[in-house]
Amino acid sequence: NFTPRVFSGIQPSGDLHLGNYLGAIQGFVRMQAQDIQTVYCMVDMHAITVWQDPADLRHSTRELAAGFIASGISPEKSILINQSQVPEHAQLAWVFNCVARMGWMGRMTQWKDKAGKNAEKASLGLFAYPALMAADILVYHATHVPVGEDQKQHLELTRDIAAKFNHDYGVDFFPITEPVIEGAATRVMSLRDGSKKMSKSDPSDASRINMTDDADTIAKKIRKAKTDPDALPSEAAGLEDRPEARNLVNIYAALNEQSVDAVLAEVGGQQFGTFKPKLAELAVAKMAPISTEMARLMADTAEIDRILAKGAEQAREITAPILKRTYEIIGM
Ligand code: ADP
Ligand code: NA
Repeated sequence: NFTPRVFSGIQPSGDLHLGNYLGAIQGFVRMQAQDIQTVYCMVDMHAITVWQDPADLRHSTRELAAGFIASGISPEKSILINQSQVPEHAQLAWVFNCVARMGWMGRMTQWKDKAGKNAEKASLGLFAYPALMAADILVYHATHVPVGEDQKQHLELTRDIAAKFNHDYGVDFFPITEPVIEGAATRVMSLRDGSKKMSKSDPSDASRINMTDDADTIAKKIRKAKTDPDALPSEAAGLEDRPEARNLVNIYAALNEQSVDAVLAEVGGQQFGTFKPKLAELAVAKMAPISTEMARLMADTAEIDRILAKGAEQAREITAPILKRTYEIIGM
């Protein structure tokens, strides 16, 4: 009885890279093309659970918006917002802080990883993060959320919060949101070390392709990517113990929106001396226009600000009535 609606967000907390594109944004664009309402969000309130320099946060938020738009998220087809501009996210998060249990939050592996041994010094916001994420999703009555492996546990908690709210107040008000798990090819590894995720926090810039890299930089990073001396196999099983080789084939497949087996059917038997230039050509063809468009958008941030202001207005048409009804249910 809930209208299908997709919500997803990314933190504006640093430089965007190919992992973010293939693991998240490309899927967002695919979903936008379907006949379903899509809401995509820069989650700046999540970013501040750890310290952010104010000027950097402002810049990263706009750059993330530029990255979304340049990748094909259209403000005409999707609602594109910055979280702090839609106050109902934080307002519903407070309600969920009172629904969620301390024990649930304490079991979150991301909390344990990020707070580490120094939980005493972590922000209260870092602990409460999953309740804000639940609010982000449920303030739209979102039915589907594309998530990576690392966010599956948080989405499980979102479902628990919705179920407990519905149960405690005897209503069927919040949907039990379904995860949309992206294909296996979307975990992008470092170009320098096939055992590590491609990440903005890797100190080596050569380990990742940034969404702001120009064509020459993209091609150079792929030419220099770590590989092994063997030829490519003709089936995926042949990549099992070859993390660097597997990563480059996965990247090719994901960029070309093909299966790994389909790629290997074409390139099996080739050496990396032959395959890398093909991969570089594909990556440049797909990613360089995005970085060019991001640069154009970042040259006029007033345009981005206007798009986000309009997005917030559209969003509030959905979120304000849902928050109002939530308050009524609670007795407020
Ligand atoms: P990072 O891991 O660089 O800190 P975020 O945690 O901000 O990036 O991730 C934003 C989105 O991009 C999430 O949906 C996440 O699953 C996805 N993502 C990040 N890194 C990768 C990667 N290496 N491969 C696939 N998806 C990724
Ligand atoms: Na992540």
